[in-house]
Amino acid sequence: MTSERAGNTGQRPGDETLKKYIRDKVNHLLSVMGTKPLNREELDDNTLIELDPIGIIALSFEQILEHQKETNKRLSVAKDQLQAVFDAVGVCISIIDEDMRIVNCNEKQKELLVSANTEVIGRHCYEIYCGKDSPSLDCPAVETLATGRPVFIREVKKKNKHFQIVTSPMKDADGQVTGAIEVSMDVTEKKKSEELMRQAEKLTAIGLLAGGIAHELNNPLGNILGYATLVLKDRESPLDPAHREKLEIIVEQAKKGSEIIRGLLDFSRQSVPAFKDIPINDIVRKTTRTLQSRLACHGIRIDSTVADGLAVRADPRQIELVFLNIMLNSIQALEGTDGKGKVISIRAACKGDFVQVSIADNGPGIPEEILPNIFDPFFTTKPVGKGAGLGLSICSGVIREHKGSIRAVSEPGKGTEFIFRLPAPVKN
Ligand SMILES: Nc1ncnc2c1ncn2[C@@H]1O[C@H](COP(=O)(O)OP(=O)(O)OP(=O)(O)O)[C@@H](O)[C@H]1O
Ligand SMILES: [Mg+2]
Repeated sequence: MTSERAGNTGQRPGDETLKKYIRDKVNHLLSVMGTKPLNREELDDNTLIELDPIGIIALSFEQILEHQKETNKRLSVAKDQLQAVFDAVGVCISIIDEDMRIVNCNEKQKELLVSANTEVIGRHCYEIYCGKDSPSLDCPAVETLATGRPVFIREVKKKNKHFQIVTSPMKDADGQVTGAIEVSMDVTEKKKSEELMRQAEKLTAIGLLAGGIAHELNNPLGNILGYATLVLKDRESPLDPAHREKLEIIVEQAKKGSEIIRGLLDFSRQSVPAFKDIPINDIVRKTTRTLQSRLACHGIRIDSTVADGLAVRADPRQIELVFLNIMLNSIQALEGTDGKGKVISIRAACKGDFVQVSIADNGPGIPEEILPNIFDPFFTTKPVGKGAGLGLSICSGVIREHKGSIRAVSEPGKGTEFIFRLPAPVKN
């Protein structure tokens, strides 16, 4: 409006239309801005005609834009905060639409269920997360999208991990399902520790049973050994050679029985460990002697280059058990192979406060998929009656008690090496 027009009091044709037009537009603008319309008492027609609608609109736009900018800033901060929470939670979260296409997923989901450098947005969730070209029959997201209800799955295996999954529906203002939120919790470690607990309970029960039986057998076996030795040594009534030979076999077998019982007592931890400095070569000699007949029978050579003075601080019986179990496994692995050159190599070297021992064979090796399980109690690939799957679990238990460590290195066709560390003798 110009000042000229403001000073004009006479009515001109079209003024009424103009006033109505301005009043309507001002009120429309006010309603857009959320303000009540102006009535005639608040703004009479003469004042109205003096208004500058374009100026008002420009000012209003400026205010709206300012407000919009402020709102956008706040929204952007809130979005960043939400994204940070979304990514920081320790569970996998994925949002999918009605066609099961991924709308968004958090970092944990990408880390556990998406292959590196894979673009996920807009792709089907069953393709990216499950490696399939259609959803599986028991997919919880399918059920949620169809029924609009949340679904809980106790356990599902994806990409070699175990997950607990909850899917919840996303709905629009009319209550129509527009997608689903899938939250997956990685329970692999929990499952493993539950399994270990179960195994440990089994082991304790077996240990108690074995310990009890071993105690019961120890006395009669001791008596057999004692009396047989007495008869052998009786000079007053010498035995004829045939009887002597049979009695010697009885003594030898009773001694073997005692060894087994001592092993059982060790296993059930009912014998007290006695730590001593033991030369490694003594252990190697003793174990080789025990295994002599099996080594010879299968043409297996022992190649040991351990330096004579090298010793470990350990319980002799328990450490012999470790050598025995590892070498026995090597013999069993080599038994199944043909040809010459079957060898078990033993090396040892001082590494600070520890001595590192390596026992390696040139047998068939261990498949990659079972390598992580070989130290688990009751894990065996041997037929029933041939192996209980306890040898390596006993070895790792013994070595742990000595505050050492043990690991296996193996590749199919390239043999197997067990490397373990035991404390070196205390220096004076
Ligand atoms: N030197 C080796 N070569 C190939 N496989 C091996 C070797 N040592 C261990 N294994 C694998 O590891 C598994 C577990 O060994 P572990 O000594 O614990 O049990 P086991 O020998 O099967 O039974 P147990 O020792 O109780 O008689 C074996 O069944 C075998 O599959
Ligand atoms: Mg074994």
